[in-house]
Amino acid sequence: MTEQFLAPVLVDGGEDELERSLRPRRLDEFVGQERVKEQLRVALEAARARGEALDHVLLVGPPGLGKTSLAYIVREELGVGIRTIAGPALERKGDIAAILTALEPRDVLFVDEIHRLNRAVEEVLYPALEDFRLDIVVGQGPAARTLTLDLPPFTLVGATTRTGLLTTPLRDRFGMTFRLGYYEHAELARIVRRSARILAVEIDDEAAEEIARRSRGTPRIANRILRRVRDVAEVRHAGAITPEVAAEALDLHEVDGQGLERTDRELLAAITEKFGGGPVGLSTLAVALGEEPDTIEDVYEPYLLQLGFIQRTPRGRVVTPLGREHLALARPSAHAGGSLF
Ligand SMILES: Nc1ncnc2c1ncn2[C@@H]1O[C@H](COP(=O)(O)OP(=O)(O)O)[C@@H](O)[C@H]1O
Ligand SMILES: [Mg+2]
Repeated sequence: MTEQFLAPVLVDGGEDELERSLRPRRLDEFVGQERVKEQLRVALEAARARGEALDHVLLVGPPGLGKTSLAYIVREELGVGIRTIAGPALERKGDIAAILTALEPRDVLFVDEIHRLNRAVEEVLYPALEDFRLDIVVGQGPAARTLTLDLPPFTLVGATTRTGLLTTPLRDRFGMTFRLGYYEHAELARIVRRSARILAVEIDDEAAEEIARRSRGTPRIANRILRRVRDVAEVRHAGAITPEVAAEALDLHEVDGQGLERTDRELLAAITEKFGGGPVGLSTLAVALGEEPDTIEDVYEPYLLQLGFIQRTPRGRVVTPLGREHLALARPSAHAGGSLF
């Protein structure tokens, strides 16, 4: 089975050691997203100079573009502590209350997948974010009273794939929203060369560019491809990554010229062949592919949309002529079970 380079990664321990070692630690090591970095740098410096907590930050973008990295960079640049939680993991009001009361002044609370917070937990957050206050109801019925606890000023860093998934009151409580876009090939090539240095593998510039071109604008994918290319270089060749070695490894893993993987092509093929090119509704498409609708929307579609291979219409998804053309190129060899090129 081909490794899917964009398989969702779990937070807190679900991520492997190697991925962590490749993560940029300081703002200067974070490649690209220049506007975001500039705005963040000013905000960090101002907060540091005032000795205050940084305003709450919302990070938005498809998986693998650097949201978690930025959350940890904020902590590093402020020189404070961080507490990381996955939105869906917080079930009761008490869970969030325990976390909030354990924060130190100016700490970062990083909530990944913040759009998946349960509503009761979210409501505890509102006064905490706005006034650094925790309201706790004690007792029941007519004897119930609300106790108010003061919290230390802290910074919430929230990460989500799309802002539209957040409730308005939550969205309104962030002082800054940063949208991360797909990376340029040159930026990805820099990331690949940096990662190769950390992994102590030799790579030539042209090979780094080849990997960059086929990484769907996504640093996480670039790093994962680099690791598979390194395997091929070490097992089948002398260890150094040349453009030939990179191409061989990409073929082996069925990553095509546009960086699409098997599932991306299956999605295009399903719309084209099973649904006459579309429009087809998201849930119907999800069933046909055996994937969750959310995964399709967050993981596969954004890049296909960016390439102009599919379109979202009010009546559903449609494959464009460009998408058809790409599929036709990929098809014949795919049927033969051989290389895609
Ligand atoms: N701007 C960047 N510069 C260098 N490496 C990056 C950058 N953004 C992401 N990465 C790499 O990609 C990996 C995935 O990034 P991550 O922050 O976990 O993305 P997200 O949280 O948005 O899914 C990181 O471990 C890091 O190695
Ligand atoms: Mg993340």
